[in-house]
Amino acid sequence: MYLGIDVGTSAVKALLIDENSVTLAEADAPLRVSSPKPFWSEQNPTDWWDATLRAIDDLHRQNPSAIAATRAIGLSGQMHGATLLGADDKPLRPAILWNDGRATRECAELDAVLPDLGQRAGVATMSGMTAPKLIWLQKHEPDVFAKIKTILLPKDYIRFCLSGDKATEMSDAAGTLWLDEQSRSWNQSAIEACGLSRDQLPHLVEGSDVTGTLRATLADRWDMRDDVIIAGGGGDAATGGIGVGAVSHGDGFISLGTSSQIFVASDKYRPKPEELLHSFAHAIPDHWFQMAVLLNGASCLKWAADLLGEADISALLNQVEAQHDAPSDILFLPYLNGERTPHNNPHARGVFFGLGSDTDRETMVQAVLEGVGFALRDAKSRLHKAGTRCDLPGVIGGGARSRYWIQMIADILGKPLARYEGATKGPAFGAARLTRLALTKEPVADVCVKPAIEEVIEPDLTRHDAYQPRFAKFQRIYAALSDEFT
Ligand code: XUL
Repeated sequence: MYLGIDVGTSAVKALLIDENSVTLAEADAPLRVSSPKPFWSEQNPTDWWDATLRAIDDLHRQNPSAIAATRAIGLSGQMHGATLLGADDKPLRPAILWNDGRATRECAELDAVLPDLGQRAGVATMSGMTAPKLIWLQKHEPDVFAKIKTILLPKDYIRFCLSGDKATEMSDAAGTLWLDEQSRSWNQSAIEACGLSRDQLPHLVEGSDVTGTLRATLADRWDMRDDVIIAGGGGDAATGGIGVGAVSHGDGFISLGTSSQIFVASDKYRPKPEELLHSFAHAIPDHWFQMAVLLNGASCLKWAADLLGEADISALLNQVEAQHDAPSDILFLPYLNGERTPHNNPHARGVFFGLGSDTDRETMVQAVLEGVGFALRDAKSRLHKAGTRCDLPGVIGGGARSRYWIQMIADILGKPLARYEGATKGPAFGAARLTRLALTKEPVADVCVKPAIEEVIEPDLTRHDAYQPRFAKFQRIYAALSDEFT
């Protein structure tokens, strides 16, 4: 049995698969994000650990014999989060997350010192990345900065709790800006430019390597054997890719989760920081990927449903679909958390445009769904400019549950999209697959197989034509407002 754990933003998910990759049990333990100041986004690392314990305890309750037969644990997690440990290996402050927008000035400062950083780090210096947050801390919380013994990424903090090892792997290290993506090694000059030294960073492995074994007390807690290994794992984008077999050049998918990504696997390192793409090391050796990252996705639908007091999101979607006969009259800019690709604007915010006294809730929710679709189209154009293609991306993540939304996105993009079987298992499943690779050393192609395609959703070209002027207006509204977001 292989156990995958994904330290997400809204929940820790744990998933157990057998030797044939069949899912035996799944558990989710919810998490909250705190925003003590505008543009800040934080979580307590100890909350991640409590949620991990709850999720694995739940698996243990659901299927005690299967969990006891676990041979290996793999980790996936939200990327970029600065998790700072002091001399006693305890967190010094809440972790600063991937969608935190405080360190904008520090990005410009880092670029002034290291003008070629984007080429080596695979991405433009943006405030969600780990490095500029450390420069911010040095200025604004010097006492905390002075006490930092170790900087970990979110899933690697869980690794430390599980095994006592301080390690990370390439695909998550990629999001720090301290990794040299081509050579897959730490970039000393980038580390020094943030006032840090190499010994404050964890040791680097590949996602399919072993980093240690489970602590004896935890093995006892879940009746596990005493030699359960912990695999490197990956950042959630890469583990999402491993989960749907996106490993060969041109394999890709759209992830519609709290954030969204358009991910395309690559046979080599292809930096395109000027297009605001993320060109990162994949979670298996000698593989890379390119992705457009949107800081918003299914989270916008959840936000709208919460505001409308609608607990049943699929019932809400049915109401919207029943009324949908043309593009919404309302436009929605979905930048509730700011945006990376294609705007690099952490201060961007959501906007409804065109409200009338007759606007009803279904029309507004339709506009929210369309706004995410338009943002995906906007971001995809950057991949297109970089010459990166993916002919039939599958859609994964929570948003993939809605056939209606996927059809709408296909109509907006004017491209077919695939629905996979088991598409919502996501990064935890990829992490479990990486443990199998770490333990058995089977060929990647044998383990990272693609899910069966349940359905190919073709775009409705009449609707695509109707969306063209709406998309152009969506872009004009952002352009007109971009200087107003401060
Ligand atoms: C990727 C990114 C997000 C987080 C949260 O660059 O910032 O996808 O990993 O899931």
